[in-house]
Amino acid sequence: MSGGFGSLYGVRGRRLTSRDLAAAKKRGVPWAMLTAYDALTAGVFDEVGVPVLLVGDSAANVVFGYDSTLPVTVEELLPLLRAVTGATSRCLVVGDMPFRSCQGSPQKALGQRRALHEGRPRTGCEARRGPGGPPAGRALVTAGIPVMGHVGLTPQSVNVLGGYTVQRRGETGERLIQDARDLEAAGAFAVVLEVVPAESAKRITAELASPTIGIGAGPDCDAQVMVGQDLAGLTPDPAPKFVKRYSNMRQVLSGAARQFIADVSSRNYPWRGSCILLSMPS
Ligand code: KIV
Repeated sequence: MSGGFGSLYGVRGRRLTSRDLAAAKKRGVPWAMLTAYDALTAGVFDEVGVPVLLVGDSAANVVFGYDSTLPVTVEELLPLLRAVTGATSRCLVVGDMPFRSCQGSPQKALGQRRALHEGRPRTGCEARRGPGGPPAGRALVTAGIPVMGHVGLTPQSVNVLGGYTVQRRGETGERLIQDARDLEAAGAFAVVLEVVPAESAKRITAELASPTIGIGAGPDCDAQVMVGQDLAGLTPDPAPKFVKRYSNMRQVLSGAARQFIADVSSRNYPWRGSCILLSMPS
C-alpha cells in the first residue's frame, strides 16, 4: 500500500523509527502522516499502515474546542499521547511541544522535555515536534530526544506571521529555507513545512537530507500530513484549500445522532431485539 508500511520499509514486529524515514527519503518513497488524539482512531490508522502519527497542537481545536492552538499545554496533550501510543504498535508517534511549552527559550523547552521524558515509559512516544526554532531543537537533540522541526505557518506563530495564508515569496521564502537548514543543522530528523509556497518547499526538500513533511506546501515534499478530522470530514466547512475530504463523517454522525433522537422520541429505542438480548440470563 503506497504511503503505508507495506511498500516502504519492510518493517515487521517493531515500531518505525526516524531512521526508517531517512531511508525512505533515500529511496524516494513518499509517505503519509496523520494526527490522532484517541485510542480508537489511532488504532485504525496504525492498522491500515499510517507510518507516523502526530499528537499535534491542533488538539487545541479538535479536542479541547479552543479557538486557536496557542492555549494548549503539555499537561493537556500527555493523556492523548498515552492513548495514541497505547493503541498502536507499528507507527512512529510524535508528540507536539505546544507553543506555551517553549516560547523560544531553550531552557523552558528542556524543562518541559523533562516532564515529557519522565512520562515517556507511560506515553511510549518516540519523538517530539516543537516550536522554539533551532536553539530549542538543539537543546532537545543534545538531551537525546529525536526532534521533528516545523517551519512556515506554525499555528503558534499565526499572530506573528499574520494569518493562515501562504507565506509570501522572495525574502520570506529565503527565510523559510534558512529556517529549515538551521533546524536540520540543529539535528531535526524531519521538518514539517506548513503552508509555504510550493517552490520553496521543493527547494527545501531537494536541499535537506532529512525528510520534509508538507501541509499546504505543494506536491514535492517527501511526505504529506493532514489533521485526521479534516481527512475524515469531521471538521466544519470551510476547510483550508489544501484539505481533501476523504470521507463525510460529519454528515454520517449527524445522521446517526438524529436517528437516535427520533428513535428515543418515538420509543423505538431500545429496539425490541436489544431488549430481549439484555434481559437474557448470562
Ligand atoms: O498540530 C497539528 O495538528 C499540525 C498539523 C496541522 C499537521 O501541525
